[in-house]
Amino acid sequence: MLQTAHLGRLAHLQGDPNRVHDALEVIEDGALLLDANGVIVLAGAREAILKAAPLANRVDHGAAWLLPGLVDGHVHFPQFYATAAAGTGLLDWLNRSIFPAEKALADPGAAAPLASRFVRRLLRSGTTTAAVFGSQFLPANAALFEAAAVGGLRLIAGATLMDHGAPEDLLQTPEQAYAQCKQLIEEYAAQPLLHYAVTPRFALSCSEAMLETCGALLKEFPQVYLHTHINESPGEIEAVGRTFPWARHYLDVYARFGLLGERTILAHSIHSGAPELTHMAEARCAVCHCPGSNLFLGSGLFPLRAHQRHGLRVAVGTDVGAGTHFSVWNELSECYKVQQLQGHTLGVAELLYLGTLGGAEALGLAAQTGNFAPGKSGDFIVLATEGDAYLAERLRRCDSLEDQLFCLIHLAGPCHMKAVYAGGREVSA
Ligand code: GUN
Ligand code: ZN
Repeated sequence: MLQTAHLGRLAHLQGDPNRVHDALEVIEDGALLLDANGVIVLAGAREAILKAAPLANRVDHGAAWLLPGLVDGHVHFPQFYATAAAGTGLLDWLNRSIFPAEKALADPGAAAPLASRFVRRLLRSGTTTAAVFGSQFLPANAALFEAAAVGGLRLIAGATLMDHGAPEDLLQTPEQAYAQCKQLIEEYAAQPLLHYAVTPRFALSCSEAMLETCGALLKEFPQVYLHTHINESPGEIEAVGRTFPWARHYLDVYARFGLLGERTILAHSIHSGAPELTHMAEARCAVCHCPGSNLFLGSGLFPLRAHQRHGLRVAVGTDVGAGTHFSVWNELSECYKVQQLQGHTLGVAELLYLGTLGGAEALGLAAQTGNFAPGKSGDFIVLATEGDAYLAERLRRCDSLEDQLFCLIHLAGPCHMKAVYAGGREVSA
């Protein structure tokens, strides 16, 4: 079987750097050997790999870095063109800018090209796996799943569900929500790259009947995910307290309807208290940190260490449109700064982990992607600084390859991603 050896400077995580000693592996003269199906056979020193596979095709990426494909743990498809939108904070921004923008996807003729542009934009930014809030409208969601399958994006997505608190034309009854979810699950969730997530927008846009329907869907289709927002802004949390007076805290609302489990992705979780973190950890939920979005909306500073102390899996998300760009790579730099503000300095290994293997673990997809372990999908980015004289000169002043990687996290961006591969196939062209 014809194999392909990609030659370059390799870096990936072999585990969580907070638990595994020397988890970051960097190989200056490295090679990534893929089989004919784009599955990783081996990653390591170039000489050894070329000796073991002398007949393999060779793709020489020169001095470029080969890094695992990035994982975006939370991003909104219907907000593709709603970045940098006006609003004083979460609830005002939703009402003023986001709900009106999300109506545009009611037109299937507009939604289909948007879906392929959205998927291509993620891939070109280095994202090969994403957890996506879908549209309210079924044809738009079908277009999203189809665009991901064609483009080669590993996707967790579902219809954004609301039955109150938003303009009428964005609402569905619980019965309509059930029917749309069931149809999309049956049509798409069995395909290799595609996963469904039941996606109640947040507690404020769902009645108890809608949350009950979400719980029923999780019971009926145990392979699906649950993706929602929690504890993002103080105004939101206050309103949740008023709307669900029986709840001890925000998480209680989701817990009551059976929405917490190993496949639950909770976006933001900035203001979660210790009892909520304990409960999330017991239920084995994952959390998605969206630093750029949190800064843009002024939502708060994510307490990463508290989440880690509770043993929670944490992904990083762009949260477009509250996030102002599609690059998880740039999001890692924002993540660094948000922890600096709280007196925690993240190392390069931890940053790269959050955007790759840590994200894949949080999304339950680490058997498929996240690093260069044999048997995983050949998902990787080719990051090169040629043509950027400033960055090349800055890197020359670094003492080590790890230092270079740290600089790249802060100074490189999508324009430096020379190519992106998913399943061994170039998907960025
Ligand atoms: N909470 C409920 N809906 C949204 C949304 O669209 N974006 C963000 N950032 N938070 C939300
Ligand atoms: Zn969001």
